[in-house]
Amino acid sequence: MSLDGKIATETGDARWVSSLASRHYVHTLRARCDAVVIGSGTLRHDDPELTVRLGQDDLIPELRSPQPLRVVMTTSAARLWHARPEAKLWNVAEASTVVAISSASNSNSSDSDFDAELTAIEQLRLRGIQIADLDAYRPEPPTRALMHWLYERGCCNVLWECGGTLATQAVRDRAVQKLLVFIAPKLVGGRTSPTPIAADLGVLQMREAVPLHITRTEKIGPDQDILVEAYLEREEAACPSFALNAT
Ligand SMILES: NC(=O)c1ccc[n+]([C@@H]2O[C@H](COP(=O)([O-])OP(=O)(O)OC[C@H]3O[C@@H](n4cnc5c(N)ncnc54)[C@H](OP(=O)(O)O)[C@@H]3O)[C@@H](O)[C@H]2O)c1
Repeated sequence: MSLDGKIATETGDARWVSSLASRHYVHTLRARCDAVVIGSGTLRHDDPELTVRLGQDDLIPELRSPQPLRVVMTTSAARLWHARPEAKLWNVAEASTVVAISSASNSNSSDSDFDAELTAIEQLRLRGIQIADLDAYRPEPPTRALMHWLYERGCCNVLWECGGTLATQAVRDRAVQKLLVFIAPKLVGGRTSPTPIAADLGVLQMREAVPLHITRTEKIGPDQDILVEAYLEREEAACPSFALNAT
């Protein structure tokens, strides 16, 4: 994000917030991960590849597999498919893709929506894309359901590279434990420019703010982005409203 906490401009342009050195660092992170997760908003805006693209000199000994699994979360496969029928993630020649669907918020869907959904899922499967049915894990929230689905397939180290909508849920549901925040020395402004945590965390009083433990700060590369590494507190001790919801 920029120093004023924006992850894109008001027009949605996000290329690039952080420096080349930070983006290179993210590729080394991806190389150590089993899966990389985004939401369909990021796919629609950015059409990312989410592959590891490192030079010969960057080979990482711990690299577990050639490419991490690429996951995009949506509440509607049909909407996702029609928004970007030629998305880079649909090309599975170099890396595998999973579309993780949680239809919980689509309970008012009509029969025609249902048919469109089945057709889109069929189109995705024909392209070699796996489908994760997150509804099967209810009452787990979708972000945690995805972590279960990934764990059952051997993915233990998962990197969330999503926008603020999904990031809010991942933090609120404690689907993530660690935050890596790249802060670029620039200002973007804009009342509607996206921010890393874009939705409601259930924090009404400042004393309810989600506490973090900062474990590392580091300057990255010549452009002086700052990397902040922080851990979320365990949910029992952390966000009271989440703890209430969970009981
Ligand atoms: N600078 C950065 O580090 C960075 C990183 C990523 C993105 N961005 C920027 O962020 C903006 C996009 O933000 P965003 O918030 O829309 O992205 P996002 O969080 O990646 O995607 C949001 C979408 O995820 C899906 N989703 C959310 N909650 C879900 C749930 N519980 N179950 C299933 N699917 C769920 C929904 O898709 P459906 O509507 O299909 O249901 C929702 O519209 C873009 O401008 C992009 O450039 C910046």
